[in-house]
Amino acid sequence: MSKLPLNLGNLTAVLGTQWGDEGKGKLIDILSENYDMVVRAAGGANAGHTIYLKDEENPNKPKKFVFHLVPSGMLHKACTCLIGNGVVLHLPTLFEEIELLEKNNIKTAGRILIADRTHLLFDYHKEIDAVQEEKKGDKKVGTTKRGIGPCYMDKTSRMGIRVHELLDFEKFEAKYRQNLATLKDLYGEFTYDVEKELSQLRALAEKVKPMLVDGAHYLHEAYKAGRKILVEGANGSMLDVDHGTYPYVTSSSPTIGGISTGTGLPGRAFTSLVGIMKAYVTRVGSGPFPTELKDALGEEIRQKGGEFGATTGRPRRCGWYDSVIGKYAVLLNGLTDINLTKLDVLTGLPTLKIATTYKYKGETLASVPADLDIMENMEIEYLEMPGWTEDIGNIRAFEDLPANAKAYVLKIEELIGCKISSIGIGLERDAMIFR
Ligand code: GDP
Ligand code: IMO
Ligand code: MG
Repeated sequence: MSKLPLNLGNLTAVLGTQWGDEGKGKLIDILSENYDMVVRAAGGANAGHTIYLKDEENPNKPKKFVFHLVPSGMLHKACTCLIGNGVVLHLPTLFEEIELLEKNNIKTAGRILIADRTHLLFDYHKEIDAVQEEKKGDKKVGTTKRGIGPCYMDKTSRMGIRVHELLDFEKFEAKYRQNLATLKDLYGEFTYDVEKELSQLRALAEKVKPMLVDGAHYLHEAYKAGRKILVEGANGSMLDVDHGTYPYVTSSSPTIGGISTGTGLPGRAFTSLVGIMKAYVTRVGSGPFPTELKDALGEEIRQKGGEFGATTGRPRRCGWYDSVIGKYAVLLNGLTDINLTKLDVLTGLPTLKIATTYKYKGETLASVPADLDIMENMEIEYLEMPGWTEDIGNIRAFEDLPANAKAYVLKIEELIGCKISSIGIGLERDAMIFR
């Protein structure tokens, strides 16, 4: 392990603070060199966490890895990864990811564990996701169609099936068929091949058996034994089913509550909570986005930032940095540190804007409004700051950044009230400034 330039302690969580895709994967990969375990807490294969690694054979083209269900600590050999109980797990997707890692010479045997209480996501959940979206028409959420909402629905309506149930396959199969019948009554016929899924799961059950652990117990024992644990958040605070732009959200809690319930690690045990924040804002899917740029500038940022979904390939909507949302995420999660990402993408823009205040009918709003009609129609007050033109990709010390870039970072820090302790200035592992 090389010494990490940040003092985060033995139990850290990394969380998205906007609408996802802030760059969580990159920081988790960097940090995981210094942790013994990386644990996913919530969400499912709606997440797409990207990591670029130097390729010895092709130094000019880094190798790209996208993690959907496998925790993003896998690229460090000494790291053990656990899929926490809060995740909704589509097993064939997990094993496809494992196969891809093996093809890239990443050894996975014994390194991926699954909490036995984790809920399984089946193909019928994906079908229901599509049906629900279709029925919503122009009110559709724009989900990733990975079956996330329907799987969490089964979980909370207490008909879900957990991964430990695969160990008695006959009983599992009976419950699966019973659920299928109930869901067909509600949603009509499904088009997927039921028998194929069941035979696939029968084969995977054997592979899964040695990976199962009692998640919370395992983590507490590891923690007591002095192992360093990093919890990997998915999605982002504004997609939180309670605190986000409901109903244009995901179906889990990407905020700190989900980190605790999704692992069994109590909130007060965490030594640090790192929020990942893009130096601008992006969103995929529908729903309000106060600082969205629907013009050529939005398109310029999309192209420069490569803002296309890591899971669905959809173009991401882009907009100015929003400090009201930034502050909200700091408060909701009790963040101790911020990793501001993609500052390099803003290089070359003559003027940068930061949203400072939301106003509605002349009144300043205290925070993010619950009512989406207000959110769609409110006025946004911006602060303007001059940009910079110098390439910042090779800078590694905060002091060496152009004065206008430093001022931009410090202004965000002041507005949200949380220390920006790292700044992303490029795709690769070493493209990070620590301060
Ligand atoms: P995540 O879901 O939060 O892990 O983020 P994604 O992987 O979906 O999207 C973030 C994208 O930005 C990925 O393609 C990353 O490789 C890239 N990225 C992360 N940090 C930086 C940065 O500081 N600069 C640039 N240019 N790209 C970055
Ligand atoms: P990561 O972990 C960006 C969005 C979807 C949609 C809404 C609901 O990569 O940051 P769902 O499939 O969850 O029912 O979709 O939430 N969404 C994400 N957007 N990044 C993600 O994950 C997301 N996970 C869900 O686009 O708007
Ligand atoms: Mg992503």
